[in-house]
Amino acid sequence: MAAEQALTALLWEMESFAATEHVPIIKAREREAFTAAVAQAQPHRMLELGTAIGYSTLLLLLHAAPDAEVTTLELSSERYAQARGYFARTPFAARVHQLQGDASALLDTLTGPYDFVFIDAAKGQYPDYLRKVLPLLTPQATIISDNVLFRGYVQSHRWPPHRYRTLVLRLRQYLREVHQLPRATTQVLPHGDGMAVTRLHDTVACVASLTQATAKCAMEDVAQEIETEIFPAVAWCGTW
Ligand SMILES: C[S@@+](CC[C@H](N)C(=O)[O-])C[C@H]1O[C@@H](n2cnc3c(N)ncnc32)[C@H](O)[C@@H]1O
Repeated sequence: MAAEQALTALLWEMESFAATEHVPIIKAREREAFTAAVAQAQPHRMLELGTAIGYSTLLLLLHAAPDAEVTTLELSSERYAQARGYFARTPFAARVHQLQGDASALLDTLTGPYDFVFIDAAKGQYPDYLRKVLPLLTPQATIISDNVLFRGYVQSHRWPPHRYRTLVLRLRQYLREVHQLPRATTQVLPHGDGMAVTRLHDTVACVASLTQATAKCAMEDVAQEIETEIFPAVAWCGTW
């Protein structure tokens, strides 16, 4: 009980640090759905892209199988060190494998297999992450991706401000690709900034299909597809 209280206190401390230092951790409105998806999957070997200070890493470990481990990737050496400090204050330290560097490059060095992935690093890289993550997964893995609706721009008719255009187009591409994976289901949860939960049933088929898909699709067309095909087809939870 004392250990549980200490962990709860540490999570509060991290929330407060994140608020003060403007560190973007998983939003309060997303946490319940996130932890429910982890608890349902009961993963053993997890992969996280985007550690920040390690808040979501601890949520993953708290709700996964009791023996679960997580490999977590982070670009910033400052965030890597802050997360390391927090992990050292928990009973989970030995089950966290931290890697510092660009997630896309680090993915090329990993062998897996992982049964759960949380994608929360560079939003413009999500299609690239998907291509690199899929071959590392067990046949029935779960992928959660955060911020897929990015401030409402992903589903909007309005063009986003110029600086967000590529990012928004890539997120649309990502949603299109997870939607088109064979023998997989994707739910887009509209809480917070939008979270996509993709449950695979046949990872090998998904890898084959994505390899065949044209990497560079006409991204403007995807905006139209998002409206007419993708959003009506993915399962929505709650109201938009
Ligand atoms: C939204 S934060 C992660 C929050 C964390 N998952 C949580 O909810 O507690 C995104 C993190 O991704 C990191 N990041 C950005 N680009 C990256 C890249 N190319 N490779 C690895 N990490 C990256 C950022 O430094 C930042 O710490």
